[in-house]
Amino acid sequence: MKKRIFSGIQPSGNLHLGNYLGAVKNWVALQKEYDSIFCIVDLHAITVPQNPEELRRNTLELAKTYIASGIDTQSATIFVQSQVSEHAELGWILNTLTKMPELDKMTQFKDKSQEHRENINAGLFDYPVLMAADILLYDTNVVPVGEDQLQHVELARTLARRFNHQFRETFTVPEAFIVKEGMRIMGLDDPAKKMSKSASSELNYIALTDSPEKIREKVRRAVTDSGKSIRYADDKPAIRNLINIYALLDNAKPEDIEQSYKGKGYAEFKNDLAEVIVDFLGNFQAKYNDINDKDVLDILETGRGKGKSLAAKKMEDVREKVGFLQ
Ligand code: AMP
Ligand code: TRP
Repeated sequence: MKKRIFSGIQPSGNLHLGNYLGAVKNWVALQKEYDSIFCIVDLHAITVPQNPEELRRNTLELAKTYIASGIDTQSATIFVQSQVSEHAELGWILNTLTKMPELDKMTQFKDKSQEHRENINAGLFDYPVLMAADILLYDTNVVPVGEDQLQHVELARTLARRFNHQFRETFTVPEAFIVKEGMRIMGLDDPAKKMSKSASSELNYIALTDSPEKIREKVRRAVTDSGKSIRYADDKPAIRNLINIYALLDNAKPEDIEQSYKGKGYAEFKNDLAEVIVDFLGNFQAKYNDINDKDVLDILETGRGKGKSLAAKKMEDVREKVGFLQ
């Protein structure tokens, strides 16, 4: 039996290179070896205000993004979280096993409640419990995510153990999967902060939908470190970040990139990096534009069926253990 991976992204707008390199690229690499489930987590997305029509559009577009990135729709399951109601149900049950201080310390909650001061809702606070439900419903072994999600995967592990202890063995205890170079892609305008779609400046990120001109401009204007040499080092956070992006897209080692730019300047390095990104995203966008809505809807319908049958079976076991009348 293959082990299982499960991961998800919120359909809340354009993805950027950080999402791709931190998460989706690893999904593509792992999908042959693992039984793979990739979710579009729209229940998570509504923890911040969404326009309903845009949310529906973004959900379809995120499915296309998964497919254009190389997720194999024959072998992997792609589905929309809200279409499998067991996620919300298990989330509720896990709520009753979660302590307030466990949620209080979550970095993402602290950040997002700073960002959305006018709407610090209970869902935002409870977000990691729903994420634990996503993961545990499918007996997930491995969760490929960026570094910012580690704390949440840790909670999923805690809740699995706690439930198993209280109600007997039920859930697999999952592990996070992280690739060092991609785990935290930093902002191009500020290498001290992670690349983020909610950044105040467009120069922070490269969206997967950016045009070649935009990509070249953003790379040219990316901040660099003092000094002139292209070094992969902790005291050169801006260049290190650019080398990481280059290495991951070019399937090379950061040290080899560093070596090949010995004695060369920032301008040449940036020109080459921009072309690597333009090439990569050109391919991605061509595939993306080739996928039609009808095919995506069919894929999601198949995914819903598979997700639902696994989740329903798990929930029968959970309801029995908790003591609900069946
Ligand atoms: P989000 O867009 O926050 O829903 O994130 C979707 C996935 O992308 C998660 O696995 C994140 O950990 C990952 N991710 C988001 N931003 C970055 C980043 N700057 N570097 C690496 N991974 C990221
Ligand atoms: N919380 C994740 C993020 O913000 C998205 C997510 C929801 C997720 N459920 C998940 C990731 C389950 C992995 C597994 O990026």
